[in-house]
Amino acid sequence: MLQLNTIVAGFAAAVIFVLYYYRQRRSCCRDPLFTEWPVLGMLPPLVCNMWRYHDYVNEALRRQAGTGNFIGPSFARMNSIITCDPMNAHHVLSKNFGNYCKGPVFRNIFKLFGDSIFTADSDAWKHQRAVYHSLFVKTKCLEKLLERIVQMKVETCLVPVLDHVERQAVDVDLQDVFDRLTFDLTCSILSGSDPKSLAIDFPEVECKRAFNRLEEFIFYRHVVPGRIWKLQRWLRIGVDKKMAEPFEAFDRFLGETIATKRAEMSQKNETKKQENDMLSLIMKGEEHVDDKFLRDAGFGIFLAGKGTITSALTWFFWLVAANPSVEAKIIQEIKQVKELKKQVYLHAALCEAVRLYPPVPYVRRQAVIRDMLPSGHDISPRTAIILSVYAMGRCEKIWGKDCLEFKPERWISERGGIVHMPSYKFISFNAGPRTCMGKDLAFIQMKMIATAILKNYHVRAVEGHPVSPMLSIVLLMKNGLKVRLTKRG
Ligand code: HEM
Repeated sequence: MLQLNTIVAGFAAAVIFVLYYYRQRRSCCRDPLFTEWPVLGMLPPLVCNMWRYHDYVNEALRRQAGTGNFIGPSFARMNSIITCDPMNAHHVLSKNFGNYCKGPVFRNIFKLFGDSIFTADSDAWKHQRAVYHSLFVKTKCLEKLLERIVQMKVETCLVPVLDHVERQAVDVDLQDVFDRLTFDLTCSILSGSDPKSLAIDFPEVECKRAFNRLEEFIFYRHVVPGRIWKLQRWLRIGVDKKMAEPFEAFDRFLGETIATKRAEMSQKNETKKQENDMLSLIMKGEEHVDDKFLRDAGFGIFLAGKGTITSALTWFFWLVAANPSVEAKIIQEIKQVKELKKQVYLHAALCEAVRLYPPVPYVRRQAVIRDMLPSGHDISPRTAIILSVYAMGRCEKIWGKDCLEFKPERWISERGGIVHMPSYKFISFNAGPRTCMGKDLAFIQMKMIATAILKNYHVRAVEGHPVSPMLSIVLLMKNGLKVRLTKRG
């Protein structure tokens, strides 16, 4: 009897302690997201609001003056600082760049996919950045190659497919069209071969399907505690087991692409014919480059250039369809200005789309040694810092009261050029030494594709089709973008 009483008293004491602890936490922090629950930390409210994750975090950060301390479950090592404060972004990405790395946790998430520039730190990162720099910046040959490839692809695939869809008078998922188009373009730029996934019959292409599934898995590893997915990997169960098949398929595809390229190169060496795709350029520029380096670089280029452009174009077309006055101005400019670089209004509208819907909605870093953020938050080396690019693009302090409106005009200066936005205010292409290396290439592709579509068709979003962001490392639309096309006169 005495034993039972002790158990009941112990249980009651534990319940009182938990309630008291929770009440104390609640009273010191009124925000539902940044309220700590026993054992589970701040995960429960986040999980309950997963379906509107980006907006939920954005709203919570507003209430926290831009920066919040996220405590994960005690077993999960998910503690992080989430911020949309431009001064913090500037500190982490530029001012104190040397103290903020991608770190082992981030690298672990991508481990299976090799050592691409996206996960590398220190010397490994410097080496890869130098290789990409000579490809993207020093020589302009990649730009010229890209223009040629996009032009051809638009004429021979995109327009015929859209013409077909228009003649059939059916709805089409524009996001799927862009996904196929950017996959084919990335393959062509990388190796000069086109898998032709964008065609009238919308074929199922194995390597493309495999890559899309891998992107979903990467997101899973971002949000599920490391200990859980590592255990699943070890036990060969769950999502990690399902990753094996698409991983092998995509790895095989990259391996075959590299082998074919090597064979081509050795033949071409004899005939001295010049090749300008990325793999050929890397092989020519680097001495004794091994297959692993090429494979990692190849995977990195797919990660960098496929989803980001698909995302930017999808949200851009959705915003333009909802803003007829913007559409009219773009059409007027397309008619008057043929040169891509001089299409200022189109450029501004694309910047505005990636401000409101940044293709990479979060950037993650980890401090090397203890530091203090400009907002006053203490940073210990093991704490992750999550920069919410999505929340920064909607920040009233940066963009003003009309921050939620789609207004390309805010990007146009009085003299008619593009306004230079300090990199710490607009980080959709990142900022500082690790700034996006493909920004110019991205604008070339986006402008050429947007021009080809808007010149030929009026794009109307299908009424009632639900539009919301997908939970993914790239900000895609969950249900795609269903549109109806009509030919312009
Ligand atoms: C709308 C299109 C794009 C957007 C919004 C974008 C955005 C970004 C962002 C946010 C990062 C930093 C990621 C991080 O550090 O966590 C990044 C890095 C990078 N991007 Fe892009 N990107 C785009 C297109 C491209 C394209 C087309 C390429 C090349 C084909 C490219 C190449 C790179 C590379 C190489 C890096 C790594 C830079 C480094 O770590 O030093 N990007 N990009």
